[in-house]
Amino acid sequence: MHYPNLFRPLSVGAHVFRNRIISLPNKGKPVLGETGIPSDLFISYLAEKSRGGAAQVTVGDTVVDPEYGRGRWAPLTLSTENYGFLNELPFAIKQNGAIASIELNHSGSHANPPHRSPVGPVSYVRPDGVRVEAADIDMINRIVDKFAQAALTAKNVGFDGVVIHGAHGWLLGEFLSPLTNRRTDQFGGSLENRARLPMLIVDAVRKAVGPDFLIEYRVSGSELVAGGLAIEESTAFIRMIRDKINLVNVSAGLDHIPEVQIHVQPTHFLPHGYHVKWAEHMKKELDIPVIALGGITTPELAERILADGKADFIGMSRPLLADPQLPNKAREGRPEDITPCVRCMNCLADASLKKVVSCSVNPRLGRELRLNGEYAKKPKAKKVLVIGGGFAGMKAASTAAERGHSVILAEMTNRLGGILKFSDHDELKKDIRLLKNHLIAQVEKTGVRVELNKFLTKRDIAAYEADAILVAVGSTPKVPPIPGIDLPNVWHVTEFYEKKLSPGKRVAIIGGGLAGCETAVELARRGCSVVVLESLKGFARDANPLIANALRQTASQLDISFLDEMICEQILENSILVRPAAGGKQFFIETETILYAVGMEARSQLYGEIYDAADIVAPVGDCVRPRRIGEAIFEGYFAAMNL
Ligand SMILES: Cc1cc2nc3c(=O)[nH]c(=O)nc-3n(C[C@H](O)[C@H](O)[C@H](O)COP(=O)(O)O)c2cc1C
Repeated sequence: MHYPNLFRPLSVGAHVFRNRIISLPNKGKPVLGETGIPSDLFISYLAEKSRGGAAQVTVGDTVVDPEYGRGRWAPLTLSTENYGFLNELPFAIKQNGAIASIELNHSGSHANPPHRSPVGPVSYVRPDGVRVEAADIDMINRIVDKFAQAALTAKNVGFDGVVIHGAHGWLLGEFLSPLTNRRTDQFGGSLENRARLPMLIVDAVRKAVGPDFLIEYRVSGSELVAGGLAIEESTAFIRMIRDKINLVNVSAGLDHIPEVQIHVQPTHFLPHGYHVKWAEHMKKELDIPVIALGGITTPELAERILADGKADFIGMSRPLLADPQLPNKAREGRPEDITPCVRCMNCLADASLKKVVSCSVNPRLGRELRLNGEYAKKPKAKKVLVIGGGFAGMKAASTAAERGHSVILAEMTNRLGGILKFSDHDELKKDIRLLKNHLIAQVEKTGVRVELNKFLTKRDIAAYEADAILVAVGSTPKVPPIPGIDLPNVWHVTEFYEKKLSPGKRVAIIGGGLAGCETAVELARRGCSVVVLESLKGFARDANPLIANALRQTASQLDISFLDEMICEQILENSILVRPAAGGKQFFIETETILYAVGMEARSQLYGEIYDAADIVAPVGDCVRPRRIGEAIFEGYFAAMNL
């Protein structure tokens, strides 16, 4: 048996979990319109997660009292009128053998109710000018009732359990936290008082649903801010409710304070398994099944956490967006087939911006229903030539081969991986490295014929007599026209890593986009003193806001200086001459190593030359326009699916 601890079943209450993998709550794309009716797309998305083998699939953030805020995510409404539609949710999960669970939440101070003030433990005026009212005893009774009603509805429509959302600073978290609960009545002050509302809710929910229904409580083991809830108190609180609940889900952080919001979903700047230490603490202290989570992206790590006795279950959110089949693939001993989450946070950035959940590495996510229909028929087998072995080319080649085509992948260098080969030597890029290795493994396993060291001319290409040619030749680094750029201590960042060069003590990086800033973090972690120079205003403007935020938090702890609106006039042997863009005096920055990352240039020429060389010729990825990994994977995948 592969991963024996991960796949050992466990009975909890009246339920048998088929393994130890819990699909954590995810908001996004939940309903059609304002009626609270779940869309078919959403139902299919849940079914796919369950088909992938997780033991429990949890529907995300569901608001218990829509009059006090439907939330920003068009939440489901657990109302009786919607019974007929709602019951498809648990059945889509259960038909594939998983336990069906739904998260109940009240957004408290952070809600935006249409016709009244939001409620929280205390009254105050939010930074956006909205007045929050302190919940009085009638309101407290209403909230308790709403949780109980919602749990009963969840049970009646077929769910096996609920997750009570007491983490991340929503209403229950606000009451429990010494940071936000400054009440002086029986609902504030001591831990017993702060815990009173959550305890009333847990009692009422248990009374409403009976003994066999699963109740999981989600808590922030630590809120990660000074004055916030810490592990001793969160553990003491779970001890108070331990007899009424079945599972504790140990998360961390707060959703409303940017400095820690980003830690709720640990990014690639943080270690894998970042929140596990708090779960481990609870596991030691309490006799209750504990779910550990936070950047546990591989079955190896999940297995180790269980084998070390740190938790009973492993919660995964983003890894199962990246590949809902992760549990099945792990169980079958095929970890190399798991598409790894790269913790790029586009999922949550898109959930905020577009109200959908998407994934850079899983182009099917949220589209399962439509794609299963559109691509149900196997195509007529074709001879396919893919040119370029970067991410777009590898995804295109393996997808085409899986669809039954005969595929040749020609790569001009001596190995696959494209521009991201450098991830082999950059610790910050560990997740990307895993993705690269996964894509290479897929090319190998699907029977693609790989031809390395093949630089193809138009004539060479014609000789393949391919029915379809996918051009995925990527991009090349732009070289900034600065005198001295060709000095021997000046490198493009990727070249620097690939050549495994050692940096000097002082490093200057020209270009403050994400690539430059991430290199600064990596080298500062290796002990360098780094200065990042950017000609425009601001840094990492090409990053999504969550990654930009995480980058700022990380860089602020390191020896990195950021100088924006700064023009590099000349590179000298051990210094750079710079000038403020707005005018002012030139000055020298002393440095031993100089790196640059000022953008990429599409290799667009080849497609222009061979666009008529076969029945189908399509450019994919960076050779169209340099962009992010998500676009490369998406275009490679669909170009192949469309053959
Ligand atoms: C797109 C997205 C949506 C999320 N929505 C919810 C939610 O509705 N409720 C919740 O409690 N947590 C939510 N989370 C947090 C996750 O449940 C989880 O705690 C977090 O992502 C860390 O786990 P991971 O490292 O396995 O992704 C969300 C996370 C992501 C990435």
